[in-house]
Amino acid sequence: MEVHPPPLLLLLSCFAIASYAQHEHLLSSLNRSLIVSTTPTPGQVLKIGVDQVTVTWSYNQTLPTAADSNYTRVQVKLCYAPVSQSGRDDRKTDDNLLNDKTCPFDIMDGPYQRSNSSFIWTIPRDIPTATYFIRVYVTDPDDHEVAYGQSTDPLKTTNLFQIEGVTNDQVLAAWPTFKMSLGYSYAWLVAIKRKGIDFLTSKVNPSMEVHLAALLLLFSCFATASYAHNVHLSALNQSLTVSTSTAPDKVLKTGVDQVTITWSYNQTLPTVADSNYTTVEVKLCYAPVSQSGRDDRKTDDNLDNDKTCPFDIMDGPYKRSNNSFVWTIPRDIPTATYFVRVYVINAKNHEIAYGESTNAVKASSLFQIEGVTDDQVQASAAWPTLGNCFGHGYVWLGVLFLV
Ligand SMILES: *[C@@H]1O[C@H](CO)[C@@H](O)[C@H](O)[C@H]1NC(C)=O
Ligand SMILES: *[C@@H]1O[C@H](CO)[C@@H](O)[C@H](O)[C@H]1NC(C)=O
Ligand SMILES: *[C@@H]1O[C@H](CO)[C@@H](O)[C@H](O)[C@H]1NC(C)=O
Ligand SMILES: *[C@@H]1O[C@H](CO)[C@@H](O)[C@H](O)[C@H]1NC(C)=O
Ligand SMILES: *[C@@H]1O[C@H](CO)[C@@H](O)[C@H](O)[C@H]1NC(C)=O
Ligand SMILES: *[C@@H]1O[C@H](CO)[C@@H](O)[C@H](O)[C@H]1NC(C)=O
Ligand SMILES: *[C@@H]1O[C@H](CO)[C@@H](O)[C@H](O)[C@H]1NC(C)=O
Ligand SMILES: *[C@@H]1O[C@H](CO)[C@@H](O)[C@H](O)[C@H]1NC(C)=O
Repeated sequence: MEVHPPPLLLLLSCFAIASYAQHEHLLSSLNRSLIVSTTPTPGQVLKIGVDQVTVTWSYNQTLPTAADSNYTRVQVKLCYAPVSQSGRDDRKTDDNLLNDKTCPFDIMDGPYQRSNSSFIWTIPRDIPTATYFIRVYVTDPDDHEVAYGQSTDPLKTTNLFQIEGVTNDQVLAAWPTFKMSLGYSYAWLVAIKRKGIDFLTSKVNPSMEVHLAALLLLFSCFATASYAHNVHLSALNQSLTVSTSTAPDKVLKTGVDQVTITWSYNQTLPTVADSNYTTVEVKLCYAPVSQSGRDDRKTDDNLDNDKTCPFDIMDGPYKRSNNSFVWTIPRDIPTATYFVRVYVINAKNHEIAYGESTNAVKASSLFQIEGVTDDQVQASAAWPTLGNCFGHGYVWLGVLFLV
């Protein structure tokens, strides 16, 4: 009985995720009205953390133009090709998009436009080795999928590309990032729905099934924890110069406004000092004004416990100079005041340096985002991304340890 509170919390969080997906749309009922193409040549093998894929999409101009009047946003996703789905229930295609597991990886989402749009995607380090294609969904103002396009033919045999990424073993050992977690959270959801539902609806004794669900979730929390590595921010060299395109105190809107983030190595430092720099992680961070009174946003010098920067913007290979990234603010970012921090990671996956778009006391060059309110977040308007869930993951972890 003692295990009740944590599984409940976790179940709730999973249902929050579920309620976001609570629109039963069939892929076969959507208009295939986008033309999508990608840069890899058929069969090309791409490397995680290094290689890039340019995705280009546009409305099929031979269709009536009025038919796209309800198109509001696009969601670009990485999808498993049939060859990488066979024998894998956790990657199964289902016409009902609520149950479909073909496209678990979010590449970007942004406003819809009729003409050629493109996005250069650096393959994140957590993508598993497999064969893939790209699908772009179009959603209407109610956030329902209404159309799509994909970089392959309907049978998914042409223009596929391979990514040489993490193996399944590595995934199980680390599970480090949110996007992976999202894929798996659906798997948990299914497991919990099937096995642990009684738990919510009746006061049964904790059964094997509930334990199984709790165990799964515990395991996931420990998997998250195993990524912990005890690095302190104050021990890192602040060797990057970071800036954002925002005017100080400008208020930006989620889903619409963009922030251009630029960074480079501080050239006045010795150049050999960056010889171990491998990748960068760009993050959105709460400014002190939005942290006060909020334990769930608290700064901690130990990066394992730090909750200043819960939102991933991008990660990619380290380059000494002239880096920039245009970020469309996702719709799930809470209303708050922010800055941007860029971490440098070494080959062992530890932070070794950083830079941020504000000064040491985090008072300059801040910007505000007008996004979802806490109420909306709690009502699950959506906890759609694991950026949020990850933050909460630490809270759960704490709860689990307490009980
Ligand atoms: C564009 O739409 C037309 C009419 O439905 C179709 O015949 C054609 O194959 C589509 N083009 C592409 C590239 O999908
Ligand atoms: C757009 O949405 C409105 C309201 O939901 C609907 O009446 C209209 O038929 C839709 N138009 C198209 C082209 O789907
Ligand atoms: C979109 O791209 C295609 C091929 O690259 C080109 O022929 C076409 O003119 C472009 N359309 C627009 C509106 O930019
Ligand atoms: C598909 O397109 C046709 C017109 O080409 C339109 O009448 C229909 O509503 C569209 N369906 C959806 C789901 O948008
Ligand atoms: C910080 O930079 C100095 C040289 O500027 C170097 O000796 C030291 O190892 C660096 N520290 C870290 C954590 O990278
Ligand atoms: C670059 O490094 C030097 C030496 O540590 C420091 O004085 C300077 O403020 C840094 N510049 C920026 C823009 O951070
Ligand atoms: C780079 O890493 C190697 C091996 O871990 C270490 O010996 C060396 O001091 C590091 N260099 C710098 C500049 O941090
Ligand atoms: C960085 O960009 C500036 C101006 O855009 C250019 O002059 C410079 O050569 C670039 N440096 C590198 C290393 O690409």
